[in-house]
Amino acid sequence: MATERGWWVSPVVGVICWLCLVVSVSGIGANWGMQTSHPLPASVVVRMLRENGFQKVKLFDAEDGTMNALKKSGLEVMVGIPNDMLATLATSVKAAEQWVKANVSDYINGGVNIRYVAVGNEPFLETYNGSFLQSTFPALQNIQGALIKAGLSSQVKVTVPLNADVYQSSSGRPSDGDFRSDIRDLMLAIVKFLSDNAAPFTVNIYPFISLYSDPNFPVEYAFFGGSSSPVVDASATYDNMFDANHDTLIWALKKNGFGNLPVIVGEIGWPTDGDMNANIQYAQRFNQGFMTHIATGQGTPMRPGPIDAYLFSLIDEDEKSIQPGNFERHWGIFTYDGLPKYQLNLGTSNSGGLVRAKNVNYLDKKWCVLKPSVNLDDSRVAPSVSYACANADCTSLGYKTSCGDMDTRGNISYAFNSYYQKNDQDDVACGFSNLATITNKDPSTGSCRFEIMIEADSGISCTFWQIRDQGVNLLLFVLVQLFLTLL
Ligand SMILES: *[C@@H]1O[C@H](CO)[C@@H](O)[C@H](O)[C@H]1NC(C)=O
Ligand SMILES: *[C@@H]1O[C@H](CO)[C@@H](O)[C@H](O)[C@H]1NC(C)=O
Ligand SMILES: *[C@@H]1O[C@H](CO)[C@@H](O)[C@H](O)[C@H]1NC(C)=O
Repeated sequence: MATERGWWVSPVVGVICWLCLVVSVSGIGANWGMQTSHPLPASVVVRMLRENGFQKVKLFDAEDGTMNALKKSGLEVMVGIPNDMLATLATSVKAAEQWVKANVSDYINGGVNIRYVAVGNEPFLETYNGSFLQSTFPALQNIQGALIKAGLSSQVKVTVPLNADVYQSSSGRPSDGDFRSDIRDLMLAIVKFLSDNAAPFTVNIYPFISLYSDPNFPVEYAFFGGSSSPVVDASATYDNMFDANHDTLIWALKKNGFGNLPVIVGEIGWPTDGDMNANIQYAQRFNQGFMTHIATGQGTPMRPGPIDAYLFSLIDEDEKSIQPGNFERHWGIFTYDGLPKYQLNLGTSNSGGLVRAKNVNYLDKKWCVLKPSVNLDDSRVAPSVSYACANADCTSLGYKTSCGDMDTRGNISYAFNSYYQKNDQDDVACGFSNLATITNKDPSTGSCRFEIMIEADSGISCTFWQIRDQGVNLLLFVLVQLFLTLL
């Protein structure tokens, strides 16, 4: 009996599984941020996105080099409007039309597959003190108006990526979800506007932040398939925070009459350094858990079906503000130079792993370290380290971070090297009152990687930077002297 049925059932199951795989993997996107001192060339990143099977990319602006590299890439693009442009776009229809022409229409004509405009980025975060409460909605309306005028409104949708703190649940149960009371009317106006224009709600969901900011947060609940005591909400049972948080939003929408509004998860991810809970193991577990979760195509209890999401983030950004925490510079699934940090199966490639960036040009294999002869009591040491850390990146030093196990000398060398590399291995940047020296021996130990910087760009601009490195300081000096003489 069983074998008799087998011939009939398995092809059907096979086709269904193949279908659900295709449907579910059609979704995954990546956030591509630009707050780096040495960005990989845009063409290298676009190739990396494609080779890893990403189908969509979310940007935080619409920088020309990036947009040109995305031409004919086949990637769906969400372009972004930075918060500091909202006020202008809110008050000037003309400015919105110009923005849409320069940053949407022209690129679409050039072959960039722009599908969304993100108006602002988490503009209602409580840390912004309400700075963007007045401007976000009018800017959204003006951009939508400009898209209609440009004849693009069916192809390009507006949205506002919002932090999950725009809604809350007093009881912790998703079914008690509603929008934050201080911005509830504004949120309802925006939601209605999105609904009227067939545009999606975009939300960023971060279980890591919950764990970071609340020492009592149950660790297992941050991950997927955890065994922690689940949240029971009537007939739904939540064993992970993502589903519960997502459904708190769905309930908030539903309660206010917009239960069917499409939802995009604009950012989701886990950092790998800069905090005791930011490490490779947790990041791998979270991101793989999320990918496996969305690959099932089941969705959440309140919103069954495929989940439309963008991982945060593609690449580490060494110039992000660390005001929220040292982890901010370590969200990438790839390092600054395009190397995979851990095994992650996105369900998009045959290899089942991440594909590294190709054609990355590194600077020379040399590092700046503390001279072994220096006495640690030397009074110049502390100010030198402070200077290096303030101007470069020491977020991998600290309790339970990737370089947290080094001795004091290792710490100091790490800081010096970071500054030296960030300054393109300029000899002057390894001065530190004569406390430092350049070595050809890699000082990396265990999990602590002493970076070598990459060439920030290729082709013409690369030549320019090389010339600058060698000549500009001298040139500036001569010009200043000349100027002073003339005075
Ligand atoms: C287009 O976007 C870029 C990058 O965000 C911005 O600098 C520029 O001002 C925008 N163009 C217009 C006409 O608003
Ligand atoms: C918000 O207010 C606090 C306290 O007044 C201030 O420290 C902070 O800089 C403000 N942030 C912004 C973005 O205005
Ligand atoms: C190394 O630096 C980190 C961060 O500044 C500090 O927390 C740690 O105590 C230092 N370790 C040693 C051995 O000095």
